[in-house]
Amino acid sequence: MTHPALADGPIFLDYNATTPVDPAVLDAALPYLAVHFGNPSSGHHYADAPRAAVARARDQLAELLGAQPQEIVFTGGGSEADTLALRGAALAAPTGRRAVITLPTEHPAVLKACHSLQAEGFVVTHLPVDQFGRVDPADLQAGITGATALVSIAYGNSETGTLQPISQLSAIARAHGAVFHTDAAQAVGKVALDVDELGVDLLTVVGHKMYAPKGVGALYIRTGVPMQPIIHGGGQEHGLRAGTENVAFIAALGQAAALAAAELPGSTHRLAGLRDLLHHELQRLLLDRVHLNGHPTQRLPGTLNVSIDGIHGRALLAALPELAASTGSACHEGVDTPSEVLLAMGLPADRASAALRLSLGRWTTIDDVHRAARLISQQVTAPLTSTPV
Ligand SMILES: Cc1ncc(COP(=O)(O)O)c(C=O)c1O
Repeated sequence: MTHPALADGPIFLDYNATTPVDPAVLDAALPYLAVHFGNPSSGHHYADAPRAAVARARDQLAELLGAQPQEIVFTGGGSEADTLALRGAALAAPTGRRAVITLPTEHPAVLKACHSLQAEGFVVTHLPVDQFGRVDPADLQAGITGATALVSIAYGNSETGTLQPISQLSAIARAHGAVFHTDAAQAVGKVALDVDELGVDLLTVVGHKMYAPKGVGALYIRTGVPMQPIIHGGGQEHGLRAGTENVAFIAALGQAAALAAAELPGSTHRLAGLRDLLHHELQRLLLDRVHLNGHPTQRLPGTLNVSIDGIHGRALLAALPELAASTGSACHEGVDTPSEVLLAMGLPADRASAALRLSLGRWTTIDDVHRAARLISQQVTAPLTSTPV
């Protein structure tokens, strides 16, 4: 079954940028726009259904993460959840803890929240990553001190899909009394995860990466972690995120979490199989011109980032309107400089400029994979290629 939005369009291999809203998610949200308009905080009949919807969504998301419902704070998306994590935890830390540790490969929402803290006197350290984009826990061990307030390291990288050794990293943070945050925007719903097994204190969830709408997300906050609000006002979301709840979108996120939980771990295997098929097809057609960017095994199931010798990623995609994919994160599109993530991994600029990020999801089929590989290889090998380096 294809998604109605994808039926007649180009092959969509850009699920890491955003995902179509699942029809079942839309069904779960619509009653809270069409009928149940009440403010969940009101004391009358009209509040009942919206309040119950928010509570149900909190249960559904907590269930997916292995968390307690009261540890979920709904936000207006991923950037807000990251900002709450970084600023909320750093500003609530004891006065002796004025250092933050992160990676150069983090999403701009994390990096820029770190910049804002730096401007307020925090010392921010960016640990190096290896050629696969992984951080060595020994480097965290060497860099962390009793002055570290917070460590923020994403679970799965949005460009390469590289997964970090989160439980090892969080154990080091915990041993030093620092709060550990992971931006799991790209991982939630794609791989089975549990906040206790990961040992994280804070974890970012993004609705539109998991078949819910844009503009809704959540931050998991482990019970007892001191936090300050970044949006002030009424006492919603345990006083950490003021504002009348976006009930329809919260219901959508809850339903998306329930759908993800129901299809895991099968969905992980299906996506990894399609991802590997796409990789093998590209290698079969283009031989040793194809280079994998990111970790060969420790990688999100739906993410394939490859550089192809002799091409410019953006030019290649511009010449292929039948394929909707990207060269890096959507935030980077429109910027004609090589991906900072790939450069931080030590890749030369020409290899970074030759990168394609092909990200697969719920409605990707075997046929999509074969057609995409054929289209790419035809374009790469076309005589008088229109994609000069
Ligand atoms: C890893 C990661 N974190 C955060 C975000 C930001 O989420 P949002 O677009 O909901 O603000 C994204 C989405 O681009 C992402 O990929």
